[in-house]
Amino acid sequence: MRVFLMVGILATAITTSAAAQAPDGKALYDEFCKKCHGVIGSPPQTMVKKFEKIKKFDAEFMAKRTDDSVVKVLTKGKSEDMKSFKDKMKPEEMAAVSKYVHELAAKAKP
Ligand code: HEC
Repeated sequence: MRVFLMVGILATAITTSAAAQAPDGKALYDEFCKKCHGVIGSPPQTMVKKFEKIKKFDAEFMAKRTDDSVVKVLTKGKSEDMKSFKDKMKPEEMAAVSKYVHELAAKAKP
């Protein structure tokens, strides 16, 4: 009986630490970014109308931005519309989202 308990605790510990090390970029994106930037990084028309400066995340756009520069935008914010997320996300979560938007851009059709 005690062995089972130990295994249970160990398994929980491993799962928790893995989750802490690698935040889910997609889940974070879907929660915080999707409504403006669109499911696959292509902003919906309503948002394009609302925010003239919003751009599609495609390869060309992301080629000019590194994971670090996206993290910087998320930390400091860029404008009135693209605000800082430093109260909503931890640095490692911002890094995961940055990676995810680059993945979206790599997959985007021109
Ligand atoms: C309220 C709508 C809104 C939300 C939510 C939002 N964005 Fe933005 N985002 C914008 C707008 C508008 C711009 C263009 C701002 C500008 O150029 O001044 C922008 C620009 C950007 C840029 C380009 C910045 C640059 O280097 O020029 C990146 C990268 C970005 N957003 C990532 C994200 C990520 C990641 C999230 C989620 C954590 C997010 N955004 C959430 C509206 C939003």
